[in-house]
This record gives sequence, structure tokens and C-alpha cells, in this order.
Amino acid sequence: MKVVIIGAGVAGLAIGWKLALGGAKVVVLERAQVGNGATLVSGGMLAAAAELGSAGSPEADFARRANALWPEFAAALEAQSGIAIGYRRNGALLLRMAGEAPRAEEPLSGDHSPLTAEAARALEPLLGEDLADAVFAPGEAQVDSQALCRALAVCFVQAGGEVRATETAVRFELTGGRMTGVTTPFTTHRADIFIMAAGAWSARIEGLPPEAVPKIVPVKGEIIVLSPPAGVSVPMHVVWGNGVYIVPRRQRVLVGATMELAGFDTSLTKTALTWLRRQAEGLMPALKDWRLSEHWAGLRPAAPDGLPILGQSSVDGLFVASGQYRNGILFAPAVADVLSRLVLERIAVDPAFDPRRFEGTTSALIVPQTPHKEGGNGAWSAAS
Ligand code: GLY
Repeated sequence: MKVVIIGAGVAGLAIGWKLALGGAKVVVLERAQVGNGATLVSGGMLAAAAELGSAGSPEADFARRANALWPEFAAALEAQSGIAIGYRRNGALLLRMAGEAPRAEEPLSGDHSPLTAEAARALEPLLGEDLADAVFAPGEAQVDSQALCRALAVCFVQAGGEVRATETAVRFELTGGRMTGVTTPFTTHRADIFIMAAGAWSARIEGLPPEAVPKIVPVKGEIIVLSPPAGVSVPMHVVWGNGVYIVPRRQRVLVGATMELAGFDTSLTKTALTWLRRQAEGLMPALKDWRLSEHWAGLRPAAPDGLPILGQSSVDGLFVASGQYRNGILFAPAVADVLSRLVLERIAVDPAFDPRRFEGTTSALIVPQTPHKEGGNGAWSAAS
């Protein structure tokens, strides 16, 4: 079986790896470089509890399933590629600032334990005085998303896959209603199966009937990276609070992230930088002495209902793996498992994620935007 995957982010490569191991001949087309989209600028939190607090939703179930796959996925990737991907399941702190309303009673995904502000500070001494209380979620993990993508690319190629970087998929070709090819500036690739895994760019390829175009909108996020003064240690845990998250990675911390509907704009803004720094310093006052070492912007792929889009599209031969929104890294092993088994074994996919669920609807995406812009108030905004 020949498969063409569009997008060499974590989803496309993980699916490609699984399919190649299952005996398929797989080519991944990438408009830029491997892992250069949302993966490059991702915090790498595997944050089922922090991101998907309410238990029992299809997405929270999917997150738990992905979380359970992660230890084996990480071990296999590291063993095969020889690249350390920084996978650590050492829990996250979810903080409530003084003056914030108590946390809703809705149950968090997975185990968690309430902590006093003092107990939270004992775990993370950089935390300031302005805390009300905290929750420790021990099942939360993290991974270095950039190393993850490098490792995935190595594993995929070792399994016989081919990555064609800087080769943009421009136009799909249908014959008798079935997907038969995708044209790039260089050639037309023919295959039995095509998988759209192009993240925020999933709706940009020509040639599809309108109802088959994945309903994906880019949601911009900016992240800053801070380096400590000499002799100062980075936090041990991922910390969430005051509207941001702080992620330790390679002796620095990532502070993220803004949320904004800005089309395909990935410019770096002073307003986001200032806001992220201020919020992070509200959590950990000592960060005011840390040096800004990087500033990133990326685009999350979001569906109108915020859920992943996984499965068969309305065009024969075309499958979709998109809409991972804020959870692309967490979901990766589960997306790879579902899509590879769908293609190879024709398993059923959760109808909540069915790419065809939007047909005949005019649903609009509702995004909670961060109040980092002058005059911004964090209000929910709609986009079609
Ligand atoms: N998962 C974190 C973010 O999208 O900012």
C-alpha cells in the first residue's frame, strides 16, 4: 500500500512511522522543514489534567489514552533513534492566585491532590507569595518537542519512510470522486491513501470539494524562553497559573502562551512578550532577573468545536489527522495509533472526531483569547 502524508509535524511523522512499520510505503510531504510548524514552538506539555480538566468528554478520554501510550512511545523512539527526547512524567502544579475564584468542582482527568500555598512553595521554591492554593497532578508529563520531532523523523526514515521537505502540496487530484494524487511544484504523487496532517495549514490545499476541506482555523500562540542567572536552578515541574504555564527545558524555562485569532500571522510582538513576562513574574517574582533568550510564535490548528479531526473524510482515499489544537504533542501516539489502524485495519474512530461532522453546519470557532493586547479583555471571540 502506498500512502502520502501531508505535513511533517509530530502527527504526520508519528502516523508515517507506524504505517511504515506496518508495511506501507510512505512519503511525507512538508511545505517547510521537519517539525517546523506548531511542533517547533510547542511547550511539550503532556497536560491531560491542566488542558482538559473535565473527565468523561471524548477529548479527555482520548488524552488519557494518549497519556497511557506515552511511556512506551517515548522509550521506542529513544531506543530506535538514539535521540534523548526529554520525556519526564513528574507531575505539574496547577496554581490558584490570591483573589482568584476557587476552582470549579469538576473533576480533573487523572489523579490529583490539593496543596496549600506553602506546600506548593516547598515543591517549587521560586513560587511567590501571591498564591491561594494549588493542585498537584502527578500524571502530567513533558517532552522536548523539538527533540521529539527529530527522533520521529529518524525513526520514520529508518522504517523505510521518505520525507520530502520544502515540497508543498498544492493541489489534490480526484478521479471519479476518489483521491488519486497530490501535485507539488515538482511532481504529482500518486498513492492508495492520502492523509492530511498539515496542522494549521490543513485547509489550504486546492482541489477538494468544499465539504471535504478540513474546518481548521489557526490560533496564534507566542512563547518566550528565559535563562536563569548563573548558579540559579530551573523549576522541577511544569507550573500553570496566572494565565500562563512555565515549562523547564534544558536549563531554561518556556513561558507560554498567548491565544489569538490572527490568521497566518506569526510575527513576534512586544505586547505578548510584556504580558507573558508580567504573568510569569506574578507566579515567580525572581524571573524578573532572568534573561530573555528566545521568543517564538506558532499556529495551533483548531476545529470549530475545538475537538480533533481524525478519520475518513468525505472523499474516498483521503483521511484527516488535524485539529489537535492545544494538545498536538500529548495526542501524538494516540493519533498515530488511530490513523494507522484505520488505514491498515479499518477500525472505527470515535464519531466525536469524525471529519464529516461539520457538513451542512455553519459552526463558528469560539476561542478564549488572552488579554495581552492593548485594550484586550480576554473576551471570547468568534471566527468562521
Ligand atoms: N498546549 C499549550 C498551548 O497550546 O499553548
